[in-house]
Amino acid sequence: METCENCGATLPTQAILDMHKKEFCEKAQSEAKAKEGQKKSKTKPKAKANGKKPEREMIGRLEIPTADPYYMISSEVAEEIGRILTLVDEEGAIENVAVIGPRGSGKTSLAKQIAAMRKSPYHSASAYLQRSSDEWFGSETISLAEGMVYNKSMFVEALETPGATVAIQDLLLMQNKSVQNGLNDLLDPSMRSVWVDAIARALGRPIRVAPNVLIIATWNAGSSYTGNITLAANIMDRFPNRIMMDYPPEEAQVAILMRKTSADYNTALRICQFSSRLRQLEEPIEVSIRSLLQIAKKVELGAHIKDAMMFTIIASEEPRVQTKMLATLETIYTPEEKQEERTRKVVWEAWEDGGEDMVKDPEVAKAKAGKMTRDVEWDQAEEGGQFASNPTRGNAK
Ligand SMILES: Nc1ncnc2c1ncn2[C@@H]1O[C@H](COP(=O)(O)OP(=O)(O)O)[C@@H](O)[C@H]1O
Ligand SMILES: [Mg+2]
Repeated sequence: METCENCGATLPTQAILDMHKKEFCEKAQSEAKAKEGQKKSKTKPKAKANGKKPEREMIGRLEIPTADPYYMISSEVAEEIGRILTLVDEEGAIENVAVIGPRGSGKTSLAKQIAAMRKSPYHSASAYLQRSSDEWFGSETISLAEGMVYNKSMFVEALETPGATVAIQDLLLMQNKSVQNGLNDLLDPSMRSVWVDAIARALGRPIRVAPNVLIIATWNAGSSYTGNITLAANIMDRFPNRIMMDYPPEEAQVAILMRKTSADYNTALRICQFSSRLRQLEEPIEVSIRSLLQIAKKVELGAHIKDAMMFTIIASEEPRVQTKMLATLETIYTPEEKQEERTRKVVWEAWEDGGEDMVKDPEVAKAKAGKMTRDVEWDQAEEGGQFASNPTRGNAK
């Protein structure tokens, strides 16, 4: 492990540390800049002080993303990305990259990180959400003045921007056959172009992928078995580079939680231990980094660790799995949490009373709750509340 003297980030190898300082560490960069123009920067307020975010760099409608400085990556993957970028950016090779891994393992973020690292305009399209051919390849409209007009999609704009990074998320969930066929040609290194009616009629040319464009597709590990089999075979063939992502090891997860939330070491560690233990069960339960971050945020807001788990990852599981998860949770409780868990009572209270008038006696709580449903009903509508202006609600009364 290496530590960045600027921001304190720990990174697996010296090579990644160097990359981090050069590309990702905001502190290292701002210090370098400060050194350049020391006198000026001391007297002038920074853009941030005015509450303005630094301006984003745009190429056409595409943004050059900034790197997530807290993104953690294994040395193997970092090195592989280095090799691919040498091929694409230095040798002008056509290299489609697939990023494959379980949900929430950082695939989408990795594509964006790569774009940030290349300082390249970035576009991300979702194969699951974008269904129509128009959304992918653009559409045409006819106007009296201009005749046939082609409305470029963001996807085509990105493909036609030299040096762009274009991500296709969840590729194997793509349903539209004609989009699949079009993509196949665009991905094919010997073609890199496709004739699409809309653009052909308006501009008389095919869509052509510009030089140094890097196309990155993500898909969930295992989804080739549940998705569209023919698509999988054809399209997966177009990706000679395949990066296998997995959830980071426990210590890296702890570091991610500590950097991205205000969780302290102990909290972060216990959350990650819980996730590791779930993964070690006979029928493993996978917890995504997205969920871990959410749990850490809830604990930081004062949630009991059980509630933090319940209201994020446990609630959506079937009862049998919930039981297993709760049993595993017992193993990470502190003595205080165990005590609190044993003694705390859940009471049902009228919404109106909020937390101020906590009803400790369940009988009273029951009575109050009953009273509330009877009294309140539609009466509030007459008081000029939000329902008053709603004619349907009014009639219902
Ligand atoms: N290696 C990592 N380092 C830091 N944060 C990560 C990492 N992997 C995932 N995350 C965070 O977890 C969340 C989910 O990641 P995402 O890239 O959307 O996963 P996927 O596309 O695999 O479902 C994001 O908030 C992301 O920033
Ligand atoms: Mg994703």
